[in-house]
Amino acid sequence: MGLSLKNVQKNFIIGGKKLEVLHDLSLDIEAGEIISIVGTSGCGKSTLLKLIAGLDQVSSGEISLNGSVINKPNSKETGIVFQESRLFPWSSVEKNIAFGITEKLSNEEKKKRIQEHIDMVGLHGFEKALPAQLSGGMQQRVSIARTLINRPNVLLLDEPFGALDAFTKINLQEEVLKIWQKEHMTIILVTHDIDEAVYLGDRVVVMSPKPGVIKDVIPIELSRDRDRTNADFAFYRKRVFNEFYRSEETEEDFVI
Ligand SMILES: Nc1ncnc2c1ncn2[C@@H]1O[C@H](COP(=O)(O)OP(=O)(O)OP(=O)(O)O)[C@@H](O)[C@H]1O
Ligand SMILES: [Mg+2]
Repeated sequence: MGLSLKNVQKNFIIGGKKLEVLHDLSLDIEAGEIISIVGTSGCGKSTLLKLIAGLDQVSSGEISLNGSVINKPNSKETGIVFQESRLFPWSSVEKNIAFGITEKLSNEEKKKRIQEHIDMVGLHGFEKALPAQLSGGMQQRVSIARTLINRPNVLLLDEPFGALDAFTKINLQEEVLKIWQKEHMTIILVTHDIDEAVYLGDRVVVMSPKPGVIKDVIPIELSRDRDRTNADFAFYRKRVFNEFYRSEETEEDFVI
């Protein structure tokens, strides 16, 4: 079961001309898997996540979750953290997170769940703060909490740590892993950061542009206590890097 992409195609019309953005993407993702997606700007990564979230429709092909075709958003099933911040600037942390709740809950339950998620992303004490009073990393945590609050089975993260410094990024990666270890949801993470892709992914999907296709899928056969500084990690980093920039090189380039 899990999430299945079958021959997914997506075209847009720009200025009266057809633009093929995604071409014949097929991939099966198991429940509880973490998939990292890397690819150059404009290769269709955000478009793909929006299709998986049911926020847009495929031009042809099919995306299904546990056997049901996805054609509209379902926040119980799939949550997305967008590339750009979508917090309401005039609302506090707790209110921003409350906006994410799509279930009918009593006020008591709502309060409890909001506090749980604030604590989960390490923002205890900032319940009443406005987004502008938070650092960039803290704002991202609010976005993540707002999405997680519906306990989706599939979490889509679109370059969630792109604008953050290396230390904050590493902390948030650890937090996402902790939450995953607890909830075991499927995660699809779009990132520009090869280290991040290898550190978090069970598999790294490398896309190439014009039109966006899956160039390679690299399984990361490392245990979960990954060490970014060891040779095995460096091997996978190099493999993804080579795949990313490969033009005329041969397979032998993968050998270290
Ligand atoms: N709603 C839309 N209407 C028309 N064209 C679109 C729309 N959304 C995306 N596109 C086009 O689809 C292509 C892929 O865009 P997308 O945002 O998916 O790329 P991306 O891989 O996420 O890039 P980045 O890494 O810069 O975020 C671009 O050429 C873009 O112009
Ligand atoms: Mg994008």
